[in-house]
Amino acid sequence: MRPTQTIAIGSTSKRERYAALAEAVVAVLHGEANQIARMATVAAMLAESFEEFLWTGFYLVEESGADELVIGPYQGKLGCLRIPFGRGVCGAAAATRKTVVVDDVDAFPGHIACDSRARSEVVVPVFGLADALIAVLDVDSAAVAAFDQDDVIGLETIVGRAFTPARQALTSVAAK
Ligand code: SME
Repeated sequence: MRPTQTIAIGSTSKRERYAALAEAVVAVLHGEANQIARMATVAAMLAESFEEFLWTGFYLVEESGADELVIGPYQGKLGCLRIPFGRGVCGAAAATRKTVVVDDVDAFPGHIACDSRARSEVVVPVFGLADALIAVLDVDSAAVAAFDQDDVIGLETIVGRAFTPARQALTSVAAK
């Protein structure tokens, strides 16, 4: 009789995957101060690590002062270019400065369907200097209720370590 094989990768929990990814993100971002480069890298690493993510990317707070988000670095099909604060899931996260998890986008008033295959999503606010909101991270899935508390904690941890200045100082070149 052949021995049963154990495949370690298949048994890795989501929490462990996020924890390993957070370390990898910090290592790759080391020395890089450009925020767009950092966002592009985080989006690429998340999308590569979680194949079930349909769309992974950032909407940036419009610098003109308009309460509007504008598309940033992402992985996935063409996304909407602009989203007003308060509109859709991204706009709700930006307006409330809180992570928003939506199990069924069809039941979310004002949801913006950039990709009609998206069924559930999680949006995490990204804070910069002086606690200012600089962007939101939007992750969409083709499955209903794909995101749970492990995703929220995992994504908030990665965003915090990659973009919150006190933590970012550990991984980027000091500004002169
Ligand atoms: N679903 C988002 C819009 C952006 S995309 O789907 C890429 C929302 O309702 O905020």
